[in-house]
Amino acid sequence: MYFSEEIIAEVQQRNDIVDVISQYVHLQKKGSNYMACCPFHSEKTPSFSVSRSRQLYKCFGCGEGGSVITFLQKYENYSFPEAIKVLAERAGVTLPQEELSEAAKKKESRRARLLEVNKAAAGYYFYLLRSEKGKVAASYLDKRGLSEETKHRFGLGYASAYGNDLIMYLKQKNFTDEEITASGLAGFSEQKGLNSKFWNRVMFPIQDTNHRVIGFGGRVMGEGEPKYLNSPETEIFDKSRNLYGLNFARTSKKDNIILCEGYMDVISLHQAGFDQAVASLGTAFTSGQANLLRRYTKDVCLAYDSDGAGVKAALRAIEILRQTGLGAKVINMEPYKDPDEFIKNLGTEAFQERIDNAENSFLFQVRMLQRNYKLEDPESKTRFFREVASLLCGFEDELERENYIQAVASQYAIASSQLKELVVKQALGQGGVRVAERPQKTTADHAKKDHVKHMQQLLLTYFADNPQLYTKVKRFISASDFTDETYGFVAQRFFEDLEKGEANPVKLINLFEDPAEQSEVSALFTTYLSDLEEGKEAKNKAFRDILLAVKKNSFAFYSEKSGTDIAALTKVIEGKKALEELEKTHIFVD
Ligand code: CTP
Ligand code: MN
Repeated sequence: MYFSEEIIAEVQQRNDIVDVISQYVHLQKKGSNYMACCPFHSEKTPSFSVSRSRQLYKCFGCGEGGSVITFLQKYENYSFPEAIKVLAERAGVTLPQEELSEAAKKKESRRARLLEVNKAAAGYYFYLLRSEKGKVAASYLDKRGLSEETKHRFGLGYASAYGNDLIMYLKQKNFTDEEITASGLAGFSEQKGLNSKFWNRVMFPIQDTNHRVIGFGGRVMGEGEPKYLNSPETEIFDKSRNLYGLNFARTSKKDNIILCEGYMDVISLHQAGFDQAVASLGTAFTSGQANLLRRYTKDVCLAYDSDGAGVKAALRAIEILRQTGLGAKVINMEPYKDPDEFIKNLGTEAFQERIDNAENSFLFQVRMLQRNYKLEDPESKTRFFREVASLLCGFEDELERENYIQAVASQYAIASSQLKELVVKQALGQGGVRVAERPQKTTADHAKKDHVKHMQQLLLTYFADNPQLYTKVKRFISASDFTDETYGFVAQRFFEDLEKGEANPVKLINLFEDPAEQSEVSALFTTYLSDLEEGKEAKNKAFRDILLAVKKNSFAFYSEKSGTDIAALTKVIEGKKALEELEKTHIFVD
């Protein structure tokens, strides 16, 4: 979805940042700015500042910052187009209609219709739970310790034991037989016509991240098979791309996500204050779901059942999370079966302790592997360590691998030198790669890379804040000096716009579809807000230092490449001249 620059500008103008953010946090006027406790990290004294004149916000504690659009992206975890749509609606701006093909339009209205069916059904179940007919179900949920508020929050309901009352209700709402069957709520047979899928069950509506009901899970009250019955996949219900509870977890302030197995686990955890809990939908965790989670967190804590099936499922989930680039830890549930039972018996604080002490997923894998071997038996022990060594080969980063070798060695009473030797042997066996001699990426390298990126961010933010500054120094700098690939791309476009005198960073954000990239690009322009109290000279020097740092990095970057790349050599020569001149030049920021 692409929005024109004009539309984005209009949406932004009509949504004053102070007004919008006030809907989420309590702002207090301090001088020319508004302050609050930051909604993006926990703090007691306010360091979150919103500027009406600049239409930007910034937290001096955690560094979050951006425009009204960025705020919604971060707070609500909306993508850029989603944020634009919400803000446009809020301010009554009509967005140009997407040019949908006939087929796409049909599909859209069909989806809308099926969502309507589900919504109506959820409403009906909800009503029934609170009626005379729902008494048994209500007392079942009470016995399971759910408060009124929790039942309400999750929209819990009841599917009755008698007759086809849901079907009658839906028909009365003018849904067709076909729509009712397509929503998965009923089956159809020649003799009986429509018949409900869910009978005499407690109903858990399954919502997508926008709180729309896309399906249901239904539980028998007490014993009975199957314990849970779920809606089938439909045109609006893709079980591999949604997660139960994510509609709430997506705006949680917690920095991790707790992944569990069951609906009741999620509900119990939320009730206990762990509003970052989600669960898959009666099916195994998928890579589609891992990708979804990646939008919201870097760290996933697994809270799977402690039984054999739970362990197996956790091991699979760990692999999937790892492939998606997400870190995983495993919460120890012993001696209880699942989070619901744990919370009921030991309470919130004990569970928080288990989160804090969650086990590293690799060490969990090794520990589970160890169960298959007898360490008292030398032969079995040897096979165990060979297996572990081969797992350790999976770490490409030398430092990381080294740390894991040491951790495993100390936990399983083997000399780390010996384990390391095994790892090297295994690696040689696996295609002849000399593990120990691979180029090292050290932490120092990572820190340096972050610093360079930070300098490049600051420089672009300076230009965004003060476009004249670009005119003053443009002879020293070019887009190719932004050696980070994304930054270079953005700088190229941004400089073209600055040349035309129409710089608008928001427009550049719109060039990216992936919300993670959008956030990164928006950070490029909001890293620094120049209303920090600073002397003129200090400001001039700070800016010059940043410019020099970016230039020097670019010089080093292309020098390294110039042995093999003629174009890089040209950049080195140009860069050297610019650097020499820059070192002699005094720059006035204002
Ligand atoms: N599940 C399912 N069909 C079943 C059993 C389980 O779809 N016949 C799914 C449900 O999503 C359920 C999850 O697997 O929430 C976990 O199942 P289980 O561990 O058996 O149940 P609990 O979550 O412990 O549910 P409860 O506490 O209500 O017994
Ligand atoms: Mn349970």
